Amino acid sequence: MKILIAEDDSISNRLLQKSLEKWNHEVISVKNGTDAWRVISSQDSPQMAVLDWMMPGMDGVTLCKKIRKETEGQKTKYIILLTAKGNKDDIVKGFEAGADDYITKPFNAQELKARVEAGCRIITLQNKLSEHIEKLKELDHLKSEFLATVSHELRTPLAVTREAVSLCVDGVAGDLTDMQNEFLTDALSNIDRLSRLIDDLLDTSKIEAGQVVVQKTDINICTLAQKAVKGFARIAKDKRIELTISTPHTPIIISADEGRIEQVFSNLLSNAINHTNEGGEISVTVRDNGEYVLCSVKDTGVGIDKENIPKLFNKFQQFGRKNGPGYRGTGLGLAIVKGLVEKHNGSVWAESEKGKGSVFYFTLQKKHKRNVLLLSAG
Ligand SMILES: Nc1ncnc2c1ncn2[C@@H]1O[C@H](COP(=O)(O)OP(=O)(O)O)[C@@H](O)[C@H]1O
Ligand SMILES: [Mg+2]
Repeated sequence: MKILIAEDDSISNRLLQKSLEKWNHEVISVKNGTDAWRVISSQDSPQMAVLDWMMPGMDGVTLCKKIRKETEGQKTKYIILLTAKGNKDDIVKGFEAGADDYITKPFNAQELKARVEAGCRIITLQNKLSEHIEKLKELDHLKSEFLATVSHELRTPLAVTREAVSLCVDGVAGDLTDMQNEFLTDALSNIDRLSRLIDDLLDTSKIEAGQVVVQKTDINICTLAQKAVKGFARIAKDKRIELTISTPHTPIIISADEGRIEQVFSNLLSNAINHTNEGGEISVTVRDNGEYVLCSVKDTGVGIDKENIPKLFNKFQQFGRKNGPGYRGTGLGLAIVKGLVEKHNGSVWAESEKGKGSVFYFTLQKKHKRNVLLLSAG
């Protein structure tokens, strides 16, 4: 293992170097904190460092903090602090600065060997783990890309099939018997369901593969919310659900992809409607919270079990789903909501009580005031 020694005392430094080399480690030795940082921040730097606590330039604890802060995301460094300070408070300080271990001076060769070996074991395991994680990430990415391609390719033939069946149902290909009509209408509704599933799969895989393109323009979130609510007015009325919206009178401008934010509202509204019984209420609110805008969709529906709330935004999670006729979703709606809101740097969460109803919240960043003024100035 390549090991850095940073120790200003010449005798200790030599002793450390000799010992480590005897145990077949490759040693880079420096005498102050500044040089130590230079080695650590260089290419192909050692993964293990033995740092003296008191050194000119930069002391071991400061260096330790710097390493933790500035090499984050790179190969992990294993840091052993060398200290003449044996008291517990100092040792705690060393660990808080990010050290993995410590050795008190004057050091004992066998203890040094044992601690360095323990460090080597941890580094080897960490490197193996990182390799596996990288491999899994790559596979996950491939899977998302595959899913995106497949769902994309499925869309065209499905659209053609839908068109043909729809023409038959409309009688364009000749009169249908009642039974033919019934079968084809059923086929049509299943084609629509399949096409919703494919669209959702495509969106999910795009989100996961980081391929979702958001085309941001300046939009008034209040108007957008009203438009989304309007789209559900009829279906709410048919179900005798009271659907209301409350927004401030002054426009709230955000920079966002209009279609995608409308999709967020639609997914939340369709869920609210699907999980609220006749006679219930759904209210949408948009509120200006200073830096950001807070949107919510509240229903007086069936609610969600406490233990299911943390799982809500995962893929394919459907709770209390019944077989048979009636509403059958894809279990992807909320995962898409989360992906889209996060793509806009917002966050989304839910509160719910079984039997009483649910509220889904999401935030979006408001456009900076100065930019809005510039915009309205032309
Ligand atoms: N407003 C709501 N009230 C009660 N349960 C909900 C609500 N919204 C979502 N859920 C639960 O979360 C699950 C996941 O929702 P979603 O991801 O949109 O998938 P889908 O609507 O296709 O089932 C739903 O199946 C339902 O169990
Ligand atoms: Mg849904």
